[in-house]
Amino acid sequence: MEKTFFMIKPDAVRRGLVGEVLSRIEKRGFTIERLELCQAKEAVLREHYAALTAEPFFSDLMAYMTSGPLLIGVLAGNDVIASWRLMMGATKPQEALPGTIRGDFAQAPSAGQSIENIVHGSDSDGSAAREISLWFS
Ligand code: TYD
Repeated sequence: MEKTFFMIKPDAVRRGLVGEVLSRIEKRGFTIERLELCQAKEAVLREHYAALTAEPFFSDLMAYMTSGPLLIGVLAGNDVIASWRLMMGATKPQEALPGTIRGDFAQAPSAGQSIENIVHGSDSDGSAAREISLWFS
């Protein structure tokens, strides 16, 4: 069975959207194999987002992801990596279609603010394996 790593990010925890997101996952029929509330450690986040360290938004991203508790977990199901990415919607909330999590619960950031987009999901087999072992080692 395919597995993916997912997060319910600090904005979603703060806004009381954890139940809504988990409910969508359960209704879709995916298995929640692991789930843990934690405060992200900066070193782990840096490794998680290693490909983005040179981006101008990287320090805002770190501040956002450490702004409060978040949930980390593992989902299992058929084609779950791509399916969960579709359920999440586009990275930029203003481009996320209605019906997706980001399209239903997030909006474009105000000027000078960083993107807050509710959820994360691995984008490939390789990143799923890497992210599961990084966060649950
Ligand atoms: P990325 O891995 O490109 O997107 P996704 O989360 O959809 O896999 O980016 C990781 C996070 O970085 C993204 O969820 C929010 C943040 N980010 C910005 O703040 N600004 C940007 O222009 C991009 C592309 C990402």
